Amino acid sequence: MSHLEHDSIPPPAAGAELGKKISLTFETKRLIGEIEKQVEGLDWHVNDRFGTAPSLANPAHHLLSAGGKRVRPLLIALLGRALDVPFEKLASCAVSAELVHTATLLHDDILDGATTRRGRITAHLKYGAHTAILSGDALLSKAISDMAELGDPEILKRLAQTVRELVEGECLQADLMGQVHGDVEAVLEVARRKTASLFAWSGWVTGHRAGRHADDLFRFGTHLGLAFQLLDDILDWEGKNTGKPLFADLLETKLNSVGVMLVKRSKRAATLLEGSFSQKDEHGYIPNPLALGHSLQECLEYAEAIGWARKEAQDHSAFAISHLEKLPPSIWRDLTKQLTVSLLERMK
Ligand code: IPE
Ligand code: IPE
Ligand code: MG
Ligand code: MG
Repeated sequence: MSHLEHDSIPPPAAGAELGKKISLTFETKRLIGEIEKQVEGLDWHVNDRFGTAPSLANPAHHLLSAGGKRVRPLLIALLGRALDVPFEKLASCAVSAELVHTATLLHDDILDGATTRRGRITAHLKYGAHTAILSGDALLSKAISDMAELGDPEILKRLAQTVRELVEGECLQADLMGQVHGDVEAVLEVARRKTASLFAWSGWVTGHRAGRHADDLFRFGTHLGLAFQLLDDILDWEGKNTGKPLFADLLETKLNSVGVMLVKRSKRAATLLEGSFSQKDEHGYIPNPLALGHSLQECLEYAEAIGWARKEAQDHSAFAISHLEKLPPSIWRDLTKQLTVSLLERMK
């Protein structure tokens, strides 16, 4: 009997899911549909790479088959169209971007003690942390070896640097845990490394394969990634049906950008957090994150902190678009712009 729970991964919902999660016009949906078909046709199968240790594939399957927005491959596909690059020249880059992302999620959920992801129980709770860690490592190595096959050392070097930045971002964030009085710049630097770096690589690699606009798309990706993470921080406080636990950041005494700004503006929030963080257990978790989160939401300054994060996200989104506009005008460039704007309205 096979060690694998699934024999194959169902086709990813890709942009179809994205279409449900963000508001798009009819025409945009139709055009995105064309790209979705390409993304859905990508080879996501990873089990053949785990032949000698088949159980390694279970956490990867569990997460990949749960869907997800597939934002990074979708961006690569759209930007590729905008620069007239045949999709075949970008397909493996799009898969690698999603596999690196998947690996970071497997590891991130262990680091964050998360119980749900994409509406499912997290992979480490289902298969054990050992297997989930190693499965993430295997995905990273697959992404890197696929990029090595392109025979372009610059692509490989940049991807390896990106993986290092992702790791550094998570590490810097762990170093800040338990701090009530955080620094906005430090939290944004964490976001740049843990999230924006992979968006930046996705943009860069598309421009690099096209032979033009690589630096513009690196900057585009960086700002889009910062906006994306700021939204993720807001959703951690306000999200409904995100498929992830509410106040997951607070649970482990982690203040995201919204929390740091709230403490800067509200003495009451600082006092509540100091009281709660001092009661963390031996696993580093506070007793009742839901009660704490709701009390913090009742602070007068809460709406201001959310408003600040939303404005920061809008500013980064606008910067992203200013770099995108250096590409030649086309329907695909406009579509990428719409997608960028829509990601600010996302609910998941
Ligand atoms: C979640 O990323 C982690 C962050 C970088 C904020 P996504 O929001 O892209 O997650 P999925 O792939 O759609 O589940
Ligand atoms: C997302 O970290 C960045 C990663 C590189 C995984 P978070 O911990 O903020 O993301 P979610 O909210 O769990 O998806
Ligand atoms: Mg997390
Ligand atoms: Mg995290």
